Amino acid sequence: MFERLILGSANFGMDYGISCGRRLSNEEVFQILDRAWQEGIRWIDTAQAYGGSEEVIGNYMRQKGRIFNIITKLPHGNYGNYKDIKEKVLESKKKLQVEKIKVLLLHSFKTFDDKRELMSESLERLKEEGLIEEYGVSVYHVEEVFDFFHAIKKPFVVEFPANVFDRRFIRRLKELKELKLKLLARSVFLQGLFFLPEERLTGFFAPIRDKVLSLKKKAELLNLPLSCLCLIFVWQYSDIEGIILGVDNLRQLEENLECIRSNMSFSEVLEGFEVEDENIILPYNWR
Ligand SMILES: NC(=O)c1ccc[n+]([C@@H]2O[C@H](COP(=O)([O-])OP(=O)(O)OC[C@H]3O[C@@H](n4cnc5c(N)ncnc54)[C@H](OP(=O)(O)O)[C@@H]3O)[C@@H](O)[C@H]2O)c1
Repeated sequence: MFERLILGSANFGMDYGISCGRRLSNEEVFQILDRAWQEGIRWIDTAQAYGGSEEVIGNYMRQKGRIFNIITKLPHGNYGNYKDIKEKVLESKKKLQVEKIKVLLLHSFKTFDDKRELMSESLERLKEEGLIEEYGVSVYHVEEVFDFFHAIKKPFVVEFPANVFDRRFIRRLKELKELKLKLLARSVFLQGLFFLPEERLTGFFAPIRDKVLSLKKKAELLNLPLSCLCLIFVWQYSDIEGIILGVDNLRQLEENLECIRSNMSFSEVLEGFEVEDENIILPYNWR
């Protein structure tokens, strides 16, 4: 049931998130991973740039003998040659204590854009040398996917944001699917923005206040946790093979699992909630 679910892990290794925002303790991480494993979740999304996240996950897998499929990300950098790139990947492999990295993503499209030939050849070579099984890129803009495809000219894994407000990629799912890409969605809860209390929807977030409040109202009317409304909205798109969820505690994980088990779907309910303002839908613009 949970094959499509991928655990996010930025907060396993650093402070992360708009409201809770603190790094989880190793005990909390181990509890969440224990529960996730019991429920059949077998994928984790991490990155070298997430502080100690890869290390915590590696220690968990070694101590418990439970090997998750790992998506990790090559940090953005000015790479001069294949050796530099390989060294970074070997660092991640060492921290994760795995034989092979299941999926390696470029954490930033810019890494590719700065050195197109070197990155294309290096990703292919890492695969040939058996360090990684698949590769791809994590993006913020739809055009970056098509640009990467026209350069790589073969299927790859792409991670993109998708949620009730940010439907830029959801609107292009058919086209993306036609390229035979492996589609992974993140930011289903827009990093927790949907859960902000009214008094936090001021200043920079004032423009989104009414939409967040009416989304909460909609959830009440449907007698659903807000988290479930947001999760099902993305989960219902079966073209999306993997959905990355961040949680700050076991209760949130349980609630999200319960929501998926409910096997609900809806469409028209959430018309009119799309947000085009990139200041709101792109967390790197937040102030
Ligand atoms: N460029 C990239 O590659 C990139 C960028 C962003 C994220 N990611 C990946 O995606 C993962 C998730 O990050 P995200 O930004 O996309 O976050 P998200 O999944 O959209 O939101 C996670 C936040 O939602 C809240 N939440 C989750 N379940 C909940 C529930 N049932 N009830 C209430 N609140 C709930 C928690 O915040 P509160 O407790 O604060 O409410 C949690 O920290 C990261 O860990 C990382 O692995 C990758």
